[in-house]
Formats: sequence, C-alpha cells, structure tokens
Amino acid sequence: MIREGGLVAFPTETVYGLGGDALNPLSSGKIYAAKGRPSDNPLIVHIADFEALEAIATDIPKAASKLAGRFWPGPLTMIFRKRDCVPDETTGGLSTVAVRMPDNPIALALIRASGGYIAAPSANLSGRPSPTSGEHVREDMDGRIDMILDGGSTRIGLESTIVDLTGDTPVILRPGFISAGMLDEVLGHVETDPAIAGETDPSVHPKAPGMKYKHYAPKGTLTIVSGEREAVVAYIQKQIREHDANHRIGVIASAETCERYQADVVCNIGSVADEETIARHLYDVLRSFDVKQADLIYSEAFNGGSLGQAIMNRLIKAAGHHIIEVS
Ligand code: TXA
Ligand code: MG
Repeated sequence: MIREGGLVAFPTETVYGLGGDALNPLSSGKIYAAKGRPSDNPLIVHIADFEALEAIATDIPKAASKLAGRFWPGPLTMIFRKRDCVPDETTGGLSTVAVRMPDNPIALALIRASGGYIAAPSANLSGRPSPTSGEHVREDMDGRIDMILDGGSTRIGLESTIVDLTGDTPVILRPGFISAGMLDEVLGHVETDPAIAGETDPSVHPKAPGMKYKHYAPKGTLTIVSGEREAVVAYIQKQIREHDANHRIGVIASAETCERYQADVVCNIGSVADEETIARHLYDVLRSFDVKQADLIYSEAFNGGSLGQAIMNRLIKAAGHHIIEVS
C-alpha cells in the first residue's frame, strides 16, 4: 500500500505513526489531508538502516553517528540538511529533514518492505493527543486511511526527542524520553531551544514548526496545579466543591493522591516515583476525559526527574499554558 501511495498507520516505541512513502510528494499531501494538519508542518522520515540516512541527508556531522550508535533504533529524531530526492511536501518546504529509526519490529519490517523511507507524523487528528494504541488511531483515522497495523500499546507513550544537528551546537527542539543529560553524555554539550525552556511564555515561538500549535488538548478546560503536594490537593478539592454543581469535573492525579479527590472522574496516572508509567499513560488519560465528558479538568504537575520536562511540555500544551502555582 505504501509503495502504491497509500497510507498505513503503524506502531513505534513512542506513539503510532501515520505512514506514507517519504519520497512521494502525493503521499505526503495525503498525510496532511488525513490529519487535517497545516502543510507547513514538516514530517519525520523513518528509516531502518543507518546507511539510508546518506541517501536523504547531506553534511551529516560526526555527532550523528555517535548519537545513532547510542540511541538508534530508538526515540531520537535528528535534523539534517536534506537532499533533493526528499520532496518539499515532506519537509513542509524546509531545506532540512528530520530522520529517525524507530525501535519497533513491526515499524522496521514495514519500512524495509516499503522501500526504506516512511514519512510519518503521529497518527492523530491535528490537535488531538498522539495515539498510543491501535484503538486511539481508529478513533481518529477510521475511514481516512488505508490500513492500521495494531501492535498494542506503545512502550514509551511520548513522541521522540528532536535534536537539530544543522548548526554548530546540537539543539533540542522537542524534549522526549532521551533527555538533555543523556545527549550531553554522548556529545559533551547540547543546548535546548529557549522556547522549550521558557515553556510557560506562549509568546516565545519554538523552532520546530509543529511545536507552536495547540496540541493534545481534551475538549474540557484543563488547568495544571503546581506546588507542594498538600497545597495542590487542597486547591483542587476546593475547586471541586465550588464547581461541582455546574460541571462534570475530572482530575489527573498520582497514585499517591488519587483517593483524596471527590470528583466525577479521577484518573490515577501512576506513582510520582515512576515517571515512565506517567509518560506512558498521559495521552490515554487525556483522551479518556472526552469519552467521560469532563468539561472542567485539573491536573497535578509531574515535573520531577529526567522525564519531567517531556511530560510537562505536553501537559502544558494540553492546558493551553494554563498553570496555577499554589503554596
Ligand atoms: O515519536 C515520534 O517522533 C513520532 C513517531 C510516529 O515517530 N512522530 C511524531 O511526528 O511525533 P509529528 O509529525 O507528530 O511531530 C514531528 C515534529 C513536529 O513538531 C515538526 O514540526 C518537527 O517534528 N519537525 C519535523 N521536521 C522538522 C525539521 N526539518 N525542522 C524542524 N522541525 C521539524
Ligand atoms: Mg504529532
């Protein structure tokens, strides 16, 4: 199907991808249409062998083979200058191309069987949380694409870390499972796009085109409440008491706090001591509030540890930058 210009959704270790032939401009056009995504938002090209990189990118720095040696296949996307064989439709008109080798046997077999280059954004409708199960893909894409390969739930649950290798210093454009500290260990020095570091200021525009869009948001209004645990629980409980009569209220809580909320829908996202579980559950939890029709949602902040930046990056976008600090 992919060789013939069709679209196939497939599992990766991060989230499900919506795949088409990366070297066929018509396929990329279909991907944008199926997602309802602005066509200036470039796609990631997925490969199955390091050698494939040479055919689509130029000026590949030494840092790339070091990073690939350590993290590929895996949840790391690298940005290079593109070769002419990569159509503008795939890169949203940019002269650079994002490339990643996913760590999932179904994805790798699909890429090899399809000619070696699959362009794939996350397989959600534009603006919705990324899909972490075949069922999520079906919710968004049923009738819009040719096939879904259902490989069950994804292992990591957040999209890949994106690092731009086209400048003098590598720059992280999107935080993910591969943290700045892990990249530092291999490269010695890596910067982070200031728009990510200054996450709460919506006026600073990120360098990855897709990072500026509203994303991941449930239909209900989501507010993040950050601060010391007891103060957070007290604040959210107070909101529940005040608004319960007129709203269906949802709470994203940790295993440690979930029994303390008397809301209509309380989601236990996992223990604060286990960030990987929180990351894996995040999008499913955000989607579940639409099904359960919560219109007012409060979330605790989950910003400890090495995955904290990646989790909060998505949660803050889902909340439209609406965070309350309590003490
Ligand atoms: O884990 C992932 O990366 C998943 C799976 C399916 O591989 N894919 C994914 O793709 O998250 P998508 O399209 O949802 O997000 C790609 C991000 C967007 O923010 C896009 O703007 C950015 O990567 N991007 C792609 N090419 C770029 C480029 N040449 N320069 C800067 N940013 C780029
Ligand atoms: Mg996406």
